[in-house]
Amino acid sequence: MIQINKTEVNKEEIYSFTLPNFEEYQNKIKQIVLVESNSNINTTPKQECNVKAGRTAWNSHRKYPIINDINNDLNDILIQLIKNENFDVPNIKVGESWINWYGKNQFAVPHHHKDCLAAVLFVDVESSDASFLVHKTSHYMLQKKNESTTYSNIIQKINVKNGHVILFDGSLVHSVSPNLTDNTRITLATNFYFTYDKDRSEY
Ligand SMILES: [Fe+2]
Repeated sequence: MIQINKTEVNKEEIYSFTLPNFEEYQNKIKQIVLVESNSNINTTPKQECNVKAGRTAWNSHRKYPIINDINNDLNDILIQLIKNENFDVPNIKVGESWINWYGKNQFAVPHHHKDCLAAVLFVDVESSDASFLVHKTSHYMLQKKNESTTYSNIIQKINVKNGHVILFDGSLVHSVSPNLTDNTRITLATNFYFTYDKDRSEY
């Protein structure tokens, strides 16, 4: 009989930490949600998107100084991470940044953020039951004869608390399961782009 080897390939990595000064930020984000969800002053994009829930504009960091402050803090932590991991990242830029709020039965379909480093701050998630799920994109699998269920781990729940931030490859497919409670779930998402800008030549 020949020996057949099994090799695990392409493990995903998600970084996580608790955001310092979170309580102050939490209140201010909740105030933005309150205003945007109860008044005409809302910045929700006109086009359909993957978030089937309430949300602010893609460039909310330009509209709300508090989002800019949070992104500056995230930027500092990213610089620390880049140094620790010895990544080759000369420049960091915020591309898009927005707040999501999920009312009852609202959710986000599986999607990705293309080529960026995606950050999610979990602002108010403990009193609702929606989950942040990461999906494996290759999903062909063989079931063993002695397996009584078709349960598989192609979808994995990320356990988080209020104030946690996760950083992940923006091309990773993820979703948010429906919020079955009456309590609103709030998150802040930011897409960071790492650039290798060239100095302008003399003209
Ligand atoms: Fe997303």
